[in-house]
Amino acid sequence: MLSVSDYRVSYGQSEVLHGLNFEIKPCEIVAVMGRNGMGKTTLMKSLMGVIPSSGGSVKLEGAEVSHMKSHQRVASGFGFVPQGRMIFSSMTVKENIETGLTTTKRRSVPKELYDMFPVLLEMRNRRGGNLSGGQQQQLAIARALASDPKMLFLDEPTEGIQPSIIREIGRTLKMIRDQRGLSIVVSEQVLSFALDIADRILVIEKGEIVHEELRATINEAKVASYLSV
Ligand SMILES: Nc1ncnc2c1ncn2[C@@H]1O[C@H](COP(=O)(O)OP(=O)(O)OP(=O)(O)O)[C@@H](O)[C@H]1O
Ligand SMILES: [Mg+2]
Repeated sequence: MLSVSDYRVSYGQSEVLHGLNFEIKPCEIVAVMGRNGMGKTTLMKSLMGVIPSSGGSVKLEGAEVSHMKSHQRVASGFGFVPQGRMIFSSMTVKENIETGLTTTKRRSVPKELYDMFPVLLEMRNRRGGNLSGGQQQQLAIARALASDPKMLFLDEPTEGIQPSIIREIGRTLKMIRDQRGLSIVVSEQVLSFALDIADRILVIEKGEIVHEELRATINEAKVASYLSV
């Protein structure tokens, strides 16, 4: 589904991602784990075209996307839930979701999204800024799904969210994968969440992938050792 090779990103003179290589299979959920400042957000933002890459290739179903602008990547099938959720706080819940529809032919929020997140239906006329953190995270996921992505990126979706909502988000992501057959890449620092949802775990350290394991045969202690400070 996604193929990333010799992928490099720099801020000015300083290279932050040093030639990453990985692939994501159809319907696969992959967690990219790493401590603060290791390059998770840089990876996600650059894959989305929000910041430029300085080398390498990104292919979605075999087609190169690295020359594309952000909105073209969304039209080709990339969806993004940014770190910190980035909800438009003065717009309503419904309007926030509608911003995700621009690359589709739809003009109103599909019923399936409200079925998936009933709390958003209940709060559709409320301002986004007035929702709780967990509700905003659900809104950010619904907004990303509104463009009907094939490949969904989520940057630290559990940050600042209570355990019961984290579990709910995990269930929802697996359900979305099963129902829509999309692939998901989620960056995370919470190992229990990654173990709950991922088929495979990649560990990123100082801009390089230093470890990779399948969930089914994972050595938890080994992954945990990369995440401890
Ligand atoms: N706009 C920027 N300009 C210069 N350097 C940056 C910029 N954004 C991030 N960096 C640096 O790039 C490195 C990777 O940062 P990044 O935000 O990708 O890490 P992260 O893994 O997402 O961390 P966190 O878990 O704290 O969100 C860090 O050393 C950071 O200081
Ligand atoms: Mg980050």
